[in-house]
Amino acid sequence: MARTCMTVILAAGEGTRMRSALPKVLHEIGGLPMVCHVVKAAQTAGGEAHAVVVGREAAKVESVVRGVAAKVSIHEQTQRLGTAHAVLSARSAIENGFDDLLVLFADTPLTNPQALAGLRASLADGANVAVLGFRTANPQGYGRLLMENGELTAIREEKDASIPESMVDFCNGGIMAIDGRKALELLEAIGNANSKGEYYLTDIVEIARIKGLKVVAHEAAEEDLLGINTRVELARVEAIWQERKRKEMMLAGVTLVDPQSVYFSHDTRIGQDTLVEPNVFFGPGVTIGDNVVIHAFCHFTQTSISEGCHIGPFARMRGNARLGRDGHVGNFVEFKNVEFGDGAKASHLTYLGDAKIGAAANIGAGTITCNYDGVNKSQTIIGENAFIGSNSSLVAPVSVGKGAYVASGSVIVDDVPEGAMAVARGRQVNKEGHAATIRERALAKKAQKPA
Ligand code: UD1
Ligand code: MG
Repeated sequence: MARTCMTVILAAGEGTRMRSALPKVLHEIGGLPMVCHVVKAAQTAGGEAHAVVVGREAAKVESVVRGVAAKVSIHEQTQRLGTAHAVLSARSAIENGFDDLLVLFADTPLTNPQALAGLRASLADGANVAVLGFRTANPQGYGRLLMENGELTAIREEKDASIPESMVDFCNGGIMAIDGRKALELLEAIGNANSKGEYYLTDIVEIARIKGLKVVAHEAAEEDLLGINTRVELARVEAIWQERKRKEMMLAGVTLVDPQSVYFSHDTRIGQDTLVEPNVFFGPGVTIGDNVVIHAFCHFTQTSISEGCHIGPFARMRGNARLGRDGHVGNFVEFKNVEFGDGAKASHLTYLGDAKIGAAANIGAGTITCNYDGVNKSQTIIGENAFIGSNSSLVAPVSVGKGAYVASGSVIVDDVPEGAMAVARGRQVNKEGHAATIRERALAKKAQKPA
């Protein structure tokens, strides 16, 4: 039988150094709150239930975490008495009884699911506590992992370390897996007789060994254990995350001409042989098909683009834009809540909002859907093969039938029937020879002005 696993995610830090009204763990990496990255890593490693320990804004954190996980409980730690005390704040969840208990930090969003799975594998192999460490050139501030004959004997917090202990470069990443059947007994045995007067989770190592239990340490990459305390660190972690995502995209068959200038979100999906030119931003909710070309300087959120489309340069797609196959969208075109049929074209300078565009329709340069009257939004429906002449305004709600023509410069306020041609502008009048009259009048006016 597969072992069951719950997580306790520590998120009760004040986050003062973020200088933010938003709880630190709700700041985003790749468009996803950092605590959700941690939950997702835990899920990948088999974590089924998540107990999040928070200090403030419990309701806000809870609703965000519920967005990515079903079994979530929130536990308030009103006094910050240390990491062991924080874990015990989730006592009611721990009491439910799980095989494996993973302790995670919510401000460490690069937490690696394989590393978590590795810790769990050690528990399955008979260890009672498995700790994730890393080696670093700059161990200052971290607890040190003290090893003897390949076994972890203690974690020494820096303030309590002797000089030889502080020379150790193997550090505690903070993440550990604990035998779920022994967790409460071990946690309750932790005291606060140390230089900070805090209940240190790290003391669990020595306590377990005194009880004759087995403790092991695993090594992870330092980068995976980076914690975020300031917005400078937030940006650093974002940069690492983006770098990884770009690599993942390229290895999956997406061409990035200038990877450094392309930004992805946690849920961006892009098909094979799609090409992305420089300076493109993919916000949340974007799916791009195979063989799409995205020219430079495009911005996408909540958009899906089917295979074979050509988009941009300088296109903005948002608010549920859905493009069929082989569409063409050119420069300075914005789509908001648009269904754009197969092979349709909007090649220049266009705004389509709340619109449904049929297959192979052609939307001329400068076409604007007037979808908003200052209070309500209305829909524009354009049939397949319709042709909208340049510089037309489509005042919604309005529809243009299949194969219809709209003359350029029209302001369309009434529905255009299928196959019809609509002209909605003043008729042109040519006054023969009148140009000279106008010119003479202008010159006479100028001559009257005082020098
Ligand atoms: C902790 C570890 C240290 C490790 C380091 C890695 C302990 C005693 N020390 O030290 O060995 O090298 O992390 O970054 O565990 N928290 C609470 N409630 C509390 C205290 C902390 O929720 O009462 C949370 C914090 O929000 C944070 C995490 O626990 O997410 C770690 O706390 P922090 O104060 O950063 O511990 P460190 O001193 O960095
Ligand atoms: Mg810390």
